[in-house]
Amino acid sequence: MARPKIALIGAGNIGGTLAHLAAVKELGDVILFDIADGLPQGKALDIAESGPSEGFDAKMSGTSDYADIAGADVCIVTAGVARKPGMSRDDLLGINLKVMKSVGAGIAEHAPNAFVICITNPLDAMVWALREFSGLPHHMVCGMAGVLDSARFRHFLAEEFGVSMRDVTAFVLGGHGDTMVPLARYSTVGGIPLPDLIDMGWTTQDKLDAIIQRTRDGGAEIVGLLKTGSAYYAPATSAIEMAEAFLKDQKRVLPCAAYVDGALGLNGMYVGVPTVIGAGGVERVIDIKMNRDEQAMFDSSVGAVKGLVDACKGIDPSLT
Ligand code: APR
Repeated sequence: MARPKIALIGAGNIGGTLAHLAAVKELGDVILFDIADGLPQGKALDIAESGPSEGFDAKMSGTSDYADIAGADVCIVTAGVARKPGMSRDDLLGINLKVMKSVGAGIAEHAPNAFVICITNPLDAMVWALREFSGLPHHMVCGMAGVLDSARFRHFLAEEFGVSMRDVTAFVLGGHGDTMVPLARYSTVGGIPLPDLIDMGWTTQDKLDAIIQRTRDGGAEIVGLLKTGSAYYAPATSAIEMAEAFLKDQKRVLPCAAYVDGALGLNGMYVGVPTVIGAGGVERVIDIKMNRDEQAMFDSSVGAVKGLVDACKGIDPSLT
């Protein structure tokens, strides 16, 4: 059987890391696409030359021609600009919206059957716009944010408790921004919910609140340290987890920016929710119940995402 084809639209920091991970995990042949002259070809060749030592079988190539992504099974989109210190994800809206328009057209023409994972920020609005511009089915277009936000939350919790990250599950919903909603009640250590761990004296509410805030600021913390760009190792790893769930039909339960129409009281919008990802793309949105406080946080996050979508419509009337 032929190897799956993975198209990476954007060959910058995240794109290059995605390509390397896809190769090492032998998920398929990789085509890197970028408008920057020589960048996708250079990264593809560099990664291919790591193959003999690492011992993977995967073809790596680079292009600036959308025709070369033809027939891709998965497209992961990182094209656009990343944050610099002092910028919020929302500051990227105008520039990256134009990028989504060209990427959406390229995917629609050459890879209309692909499972598309968008990473470009501001995430929830960009994945919505990419879906609109591409016209692909909603369940085949989603955004990577919740896996990353949850991974950050899990990392901080594992450090706090001195336990393996593998035994910490966490749940972050809502938009990928300052209003994201880490849900303590649905986050556990070895199956024990965080509120119970407070009762057991493992941590305090204050410490947990500080971890939740650090999770919300997780992207900004890294932008502040790097000074020249934003995070890329963890974002790439998170998107690869989603791509693998699709390619191997794993039916993974993963939070992602998915199209929600009916569940969680929402009518037709993209926002971070728990989903099941398998060979059918986003196969299910899990309609969890929230308490009053959680619902209020989620509603405010949904409001922020709607504001960004309206801003997109204001910039590009073809989206209205
Ligand atoms: N088509 C294809 N590629 C493009 C386009 C376009 N229209 N416009 C820009 N690019 C490419 C750039 O040439 C660059 O190589 O997108 C790449 C982006 O790479 P980086 O600047 O290194 O950014 P990265 O860290 O990979 O983040 C990409 O993901 O997490 C988000 O906020 C982040 O929006 C940003 C995106």
